[in-house]
Amino acid sequence: MASSISITVEVDGVSYTDDVEPRLLLVQHLRERLGKTGTLIGCDTTNCGACTVHLDGVSVKSCTMFAVQADGHQVITIEGMAQNGKLAPLQEAFHQCHALQCGFCTPGMIMQSASLLKENPHPTESEIREGLEGNLCRCTGYQNIVAAVKSVADGVQYDDSGVSVSPSMLEDNSETAGVS
Ligand code: FES
Ligand code: FES
Repeated sequence: MASSISITVEVDGVSYTDDVEPRLLLVQHLRERLGKTGTLIGCDTTNCGACTVHLDGVSVKSCTMFAVQADGHQVITIEGMAQNGKLAPLQEAFHQCHALQCGFCTPGMIMQSASLLKENPHPTESEIREGLEGNLCRCTGYQNIVAAVKSVADGVQYDDSGVSVSPSMLEDNSETAGVS
């Protein structure tokens, strides 16, 4: 067994120091050592995007990195997106737009979408689809995922009863909500 290396990683605002094997993947470190099980493993071959997190503000597939490569860096997982018990706008939008079915792809989709909107706050539908091309969903057909991201880009505000400002895109998607 390779000797362990001490790493310190800030995850969702908390600093963690652990001894890890050099071969340990970041996603395994997050899930198995730090209990961040909202970050999922769908393939561990860099295909599905279920493991997407932010590293120093940039989205990365955490199955594609070793934990030791995150030493000294900041990681945000899906569990760090909500603030003070309030869902982040993208989380609320995915909920309100029915942008998930089984939910397996959802954490990665939201993390990648957040990164996309940070780089391009007002993407077109095609830019959203291109930005999410590294994240696979086997359930939704993507239409409502794109609608959720677009609604946040368009500044739609949600409350407990649903959509308070309804863009045409959401209306267009009402028929396809939940379609696999
Ligand atoms: S688990 Fe990382 S891309 Fe699929
Ligand atoms: S909602 Fe099931 S994989 Fe996307």
